[in-house]
Amino acid sequence: MPQIFPKKANALPLLSIGGALVGGVLLIFLVWYYFSPEFTVVGYQPEQPVPYSHQLHAGQLGMDCRYCHNWVENSKHANVPPTQTCMNCHNQIKTQSPKLVEVRESWAKDQPIEWVKVHHLPDYAHFSHAAHVKSGVGCETCHGRIDKMGEEGVYQAEPLSMGWCLECHRQPELYLRPNEEVTTMGYVQPADFVDRNLERIRAEGIQPPTNCSACHY
Ligand code: HEC
Ligand code: HEC
Ligand code: HEC
Ligand code: HEC
Ligand code: HEC
Repeated sequence: MPQIFPKKANALPLLSIGGALVGGVLLIFLVWYYFSPEFTVVGYQPEQPVPYSHQLHAGQLGMDCRYCHNWVENSKHANVPPTQTCMNCHNQIKTQSPKLVEVRESWAKDQPIEWVKVHHLPDYAHFSHAAHVKSGVGCETCHGRIDKMGEEGVYQAEPLSMGWCLECHRQPELYLRPNEEVTTMGYVQPADFVDRNLERIRAEGIQPPTNCSACHY
């Protein structure tokens, strides 16, 4: 789906400030800036301050996503864990590892680690984790196989575009899973999953919105 205006629509008023010439230059700048990969492209993978691996922690060690992202079920935002969460283990495990220097420093100085945000919607689009996780949308459906993402960090697996959101909102029965499978990676849908989902959608009155004001307000 083509984008009508750049991701951060909030920046648009800027365009009317300057004259035609300035506006033209600004437009080129904004298009270049907002359409550059870190804002739109699947595969965006910023460098992180610590070579933290989901593959190791969530994959091999089998830690549940909610051990670290513990707000995800009850809040709009999924939090990235504080250093304390890492230190629960790393005050005993790999205490001398050079890969954990930043973690130990953050702990000693009582300053948060500056993780770089991977996913972000423009300010004019509203999204809540709690609403989705409670209705049986899996992390995997929107974030991909996080358990296979290693020390290079997390990358954006899905477009997070309006068309992508609506594809599911129009036919949620193709995507839902039981709530106890929400954090499962590599979930295998049972053969009758569409019927089960239709049943659940009816029973719980699940109705993802498609009206503009649900997401833009
Ligand atoms: C041991 C703690 C820990 C566990 C367990 C964990 N994560 Fe993370 N997660 C992190 C940290 C730290 C970051 C920030 C660094 C990064 O983005 O690589 C992060 C980042 C993310 C991001 C990117 C956030 C952004 O910036 O947009 C997603 C998505 C994510 N995790 C999903 C998951 C899922 C899904 C699971 C379960 C399969 C999981 N995490 C398990 C610690 C954890
Ligand atoms: C439940 C315990 C636990 C928690 C919580 C935990 N880790 Fe780990 N971490 C481990 C284990 C176990 C290893 C693997 C040790 C080994 O290879 O023998 C490890 C390894 C690592 C390594 C690689 C170290 C090396 O030298 O190879 C890094 C980096 C790391 N963890 C970062 C983090 C960060 C950042 C957090 C917090 C977001 C975190 N860990 C939270 C248990 C944990
Ligand atoms: C319906 C799609 C969807 C599902 C399901 C989903 N996420 Fe997200 N996630 C997103 C979007 C969209 C963003 C960017 C939000 C923003 O910028 O406001 C995001 C951002 C994040 C972030 C960065 C912090 C934040 O809130 O911006 C983390 C961490 C994260 N998700 C973890 C998870 C975990 C863990 C699960 C499963 C328990 C999960 N997500 C389920 C779509 C989803
Ligand atoms: C894979 C399916 C799926 C995807 C992808 C998805 N949603 Fe949803 N969404 C749902 C379901 C299911 C509900 C819950 C409806 C209910 O409980 O009635 C929902 C509810 C909502 C709601 C209403 C609840 C609330 O938070 O007020 C909003 C707004 C919303 N989604 C926005 C988004 C946005 C924005 C995106 C894309 C970034 C998105 N959704 C992607 C399935 C999805
Ligand atoms: C389910 C949530 C949802 C609904 C419903 C929705 N939008 Fe969006 N919309 C989004 C998201 C998310 C973006 C950001 C897309 C991106 O970052 O690429 C967006 C972006 C836009 C944009 C910017 C151009 C673009 O395509 O990126 C316009 C214009 C827009 N929406 C208009 C509308 C109108 C008009 C409606 C009603 C017919 C509507 N939206 C309904 C989620 C939604």
